[in-house]
Amino acid sequence: MWKLQENILEADDKKKLSEFIASTERFTQFEKVKLFEKAWSEWQGCKYSVFVNSGSSADLVMLDGLKEQHKIPDGSEVLVPAATWTTNITSVIQTRLQPVFVDINLQDLSFDYAALEKAVTPKTKIILVTHLIGFPAAMARIRALAERHGLLVLEDCCESHGAVSGGKKIGNHGVASAFSFYWGHHITTIEGGMICTDSEELNDIFTLKRSHGLARELDPSKHAAYKAKYPDIDFNFLFLTHGYNFRNTELHATIGIEQLKHLDRYIKIRNENFVRFLELSAALGDRIYRCGADGASSFCLPFIFRDKADKDRLQAKCSERQIETRPVISGNLLRQPCFRAYGDYAAFPNAEILHRNGFYIGNNQFVDAKRLDLLQAILKEVF
Ligand SMILES: Cc1ncc(COP(=O)(O)O)c(C=O)c1O
Repeated sequence: MWKLQENILEADDKKKLSEFIASTERFTQFEKVKLFEKAWSEWQGCKYSVFVNSGSSADLVMLDGLKEQHKIPDGSEVLVPAATWTTNITSVIQTRLQPVFVDINLQDLSFDYAALEKAVTPKTKIILVTHLIGFPAAMARIRALAERHGLLVLEDCCESHGAVSGGKKIGNHGVASAFSFYWGHHITTIEGGMICTDSEELNDIFTLKRSHGLARELDPSKHAAYKAKYPDIDFNFLFLTHGYNFRNTELHATIGIEQLKHLDRYIKIRNENFVRFLELSAALGDRIYRCGADGASSFCLPFIFRDKADKDRLQAKCSERQIETRPVISGNLLRQPCFRAYGDYAAFPNAEILHRNGFYIGNNQFVDAKRLDLLQAILKEVF
């Protein structure tokens, strides 16, 4: 059985978690969360990180926070790819912004860059980039476009921890970025996410929004000023902005601190597997689109065929051999019932190819030469 993901918590991670539970009286967000945020910021190379309970929460707080900071009016347009995870788009809708879908390219699976520029209107304010399945988007190109049109850039890095674009880790190219630590991702906190930024002001907004909008969540150095400004309100329950409760716990942060120690090793194994995957899938010649990008941090092993019949044959054989598969990632989002009102799916031809002719199988530190040999044998058998 080749599952998408297996138990990624190592024996030592579980031991550290047990020791923590035995030694503490405090389980809600506290020092371990701060330690994980600090370690993550160091690894990521950013100034600030805010640990939340999922990647979806990270996306929502990131958009809501940016909208608040820049006083972006309701209905302003956000450019989004036609293929990404659904909650990236719902975050846009939930913050009363307007998603404008742009087709993808079949190389790095980010935007069709020519179509991106054409989609800019006077109402466009944000480009929400997704680095899909570990492939870094062409950030120099996106940033140049953003600068030409005065747009803000956000990055969703939930599937691409450690990928690099133009020599710089993704997640550090825009004003803020979101990561997921859900089970199937490069590392896990079981459930969890992170929002990163170099802006102190944005970090404060994210910190407030994560936890009800409470002023006391801010760095203690900032408390006195708010106490003085609002003397008639008990500081314990002083709410500075509209918030959520997207906090995570000391338990999840403890796991995150341990998992982070393995991340570079996991990425190396994933990328070695991906190189072998490229070699063996080259045997399929022109039957497939050879997607990928320099600086990738492989999330999975994707097949995107030119012909749907080839995709169906290989996917059926994988299933017969107990290899789990998934669509790449939610296919053409315009086909999903929840987004049909936002456009005609047929207007996004590359997302259509991904939707109809693509699927992936899992890549992670458990994928080894034996499994890749099996995949090679299956490809020979089917084609
Ligand atoms: C690109 C992308 N963004 C956001 C998310 C949401 O992350 P989470 O599952 O932690 O909510 C995912 C989830 O897999 C994702 O793949």
